Amino acid sequence: MIAKIIDGVKISASIRAECKARVERLARQNVVPGLAVILIGSDPASTVYVRNKIRACAEVGIRSFRFDFSADTEPDAVIETIEELNQRADVHGILVQLPLPLHFSLSRILHTISVDKDVDGFHLYNVGGLVVGDTVFPPCTPYGVVKLLEYEGIPVEGRNVIVVGASNIVGKPMALMLMQRDATVCICHAKTRDLAQFTILADILVVAAGRPNLIIPQMVRTGAVVIDVGINRLPDGRLVGDVDFEGVREKASYITPVPGGVGPMTVTMLLSNTITSAERMAQSFARSRIKDLASTST
Ligand code: GUN
Repeated sequence: MIAKIIDGVKISASIRAECKARVERLARQNVVPGLAVILIGSDPASTVYVRNKIRACAEVGIRSFRFDFSADTEPDAVIETIEELNQRADVHGILVQLPLPLHFSLSRILHTISVDKDVDGFHLYNVGGLVVGDTVFPPCTPYGVVKLLEYEGIPVEGRNVIVVGASNIVGKPMALMLMQRDATVCICHAKTRDLAQFTILADILVVAAGRPNLIIPQMVRTGAVVIDVGINRLPDGRLVGDVDFEGVREKASYITPVPGGVGPMTVTMLLSNTITSAERMAQSFARSRIKDLASTST
């Protein structure tokens, strides 16, 4: 069996075209979606991610506002900026690029962001929403994986899903989203003994461990769907995922490449969440106007 390669660039382009149409609809209500992006320090990977997010915003017509802080900034200065952004009507999404410098409290920063503008979905309230199946903003990377599965028409209900990696950004929300869609989900992590005895059970295997070549063909069931969320830079400069792509491709039914699989979807779902936020705010503004008009005419 040779797997079908899931083309994240193509699916991403199609969702971005929908995003553009949504932005055009909002323009008719005089609303331009706005995303504030905060970068603290100059981590090279984070700098590239932020640049890509800002470029993608421009592509679909989202206005972006970038805030750069040096790595030795006092946390209070960032908190103050977030509090100002929470109040701004032209900002619908706020994102603080992670990781943060060590002297920052991650929870303090994330919980300062207004729940209604938390387009990363990292605020405790949003995490809770995900747990009870009432998501406010689905975290972008697992949301991107769900969209890839949907676009390929891969059913989730009743299937065995193994998620490798238990991070707050990918593994845990991924498991919750797939449980919500009635999959049978198991999360493995760095301390899992004999990973292969779990991965071999997967109808759908999602790997987000950050270790090149962690998943080899012997660990994959023939016909499984393999989603590789890993992004690893090898010493020779090559970018690879967590899965032995060439080997596993010969066993799986579907596989995502790295690069060009899940990666482009993360930024695309950030755009989508930002537009959703602007749509919600425009709708609640319209509702309050109608209420005002109704009360003045009586
Ligand atoms: N760093 C790595 N992934 C992410 C993400 O999805 N959002 C933010 N804000 N930072 C990240």
